[in-house]
Amino acid sequence: MKIALLGANGQLGQDLQQALHAHDVRPFTRNDFDVTNRPRAREVLIDLRPDVILNTTAYHRVDDCETHEDLAYGVNALAVLNLARVANEIDAVLLHISTDYVFDGKASEPYTERSEPFPLSVYANSKLAGEILVRTTAKKYVLIRTCGLYGVAGSQGKGGNFVQTMLAKAKRGDPIKVVNDQTVTPTYTADLADQIAALLQTEHRGLFHMTNEGGCTWYEFARAIFELAGIEADLSPTTSDAYKTPAIRPKYSVLENARLKELGLNRMRHWRDALAAYLK
Ligand SMILES: NC(=O)c1ccc[n+]([C@@H]2O[C@H](COP(=O)([O-])OP(=O)(O)OC[C@H]3O[C@@H](n4cnc5c(N)ncnc54)[C@H](OP(=O)(O)O)[C@@H]3O)[C@@H](O)[C@H]2O)c1
Repeated sequence: MKIALLGANGQLGQDLQQALHAHDVRPFTRNDFDVTNRPRAREVLIDLRPDVILNTTAYHRVDDCETHEDLAYGVNALAVLNLARVANEIDAVLLHISTDYVFDGKASEPYTERSEPFPLSVYANSKLAGEILVRTTAKKYVLIRTCGLYGVAGSQGKGGNFVQTMLAKAKRGDPIKVVNDQTVTPTYTADLADQIAALLQTEHRGLFHMTNEGGCTWYEFARAIFELAGIEADLSPTTSDAYKTPAIRPKYSVLENARLKELGLNRMRHWRDALAAYLK
């Protein structure tokens, strides 16, 4: 399969290059084209004629999105609409990545693909807009919602990943306060990339939730990082109210990989096992 991989230098993008090594992967970074330059993106992709356009690009500085709405909707929605149209023109599958933040976090059990989204921030709204444009435009699509990504490459957009940030703070001896009232599923990008590669081997299309298994608060995740790394840290819990941010985050955004399970395709391990593998 010929796969155009957009965002190839990102933390998910780099793991996808590894996981998809059996395919003819053509990696694209911002240096090749900015996805918001829609004519250029179209020209490159029409010329290449891939079987799959795999889009990992996003403007996901969640707090900055509140004041940069044009950029958020430009990258997370309008650029995605362009990719959907291009995919239709060349009869390609559009595989697009979305987020747990499309939910409002009022649930107390994991969200499935059948749960109703209700976004709380500009970032979340722009990602949901991207989802809707994919679902209403692309003839062949795979739409994946994931959560709490960390990977060896570190998030380009966020200047590293949560695990490395925690380890660096502990090594400096900094006091570390982490919110204990937002429950997520930290997800290792190497696992997500392997699961995406496995799904692409099938003909299944549509919306999929794809995270590691289980859930924890960010504080519990930080505690597990220090336990598994065998590092002493001055860690204490805090609340979202005490640690105010411009964008509201959902209090609970654990996703159930319901469709993968129904299809017998779920290979995601528990977040704690994934974290142990990452730290090794
Ligand atoms: N990180 C999370 O916790 C999380 C959670 C749920 C869902 N997601 C979704 O997962 C996907 C992958 O996230 P990630 O953590 O792998 O992000 P990442 O490491 O920041 O990678 C994103 C890549 O996209 C590129 N990019 C951004 N804007 C672009 C543009 N306008 N034109 C061309 N390239 C552009 C970035 O390049 P530059 O470095 O040049 O900006 C970067 O290489 C995103 O769709 C995100 O919304 C992430």
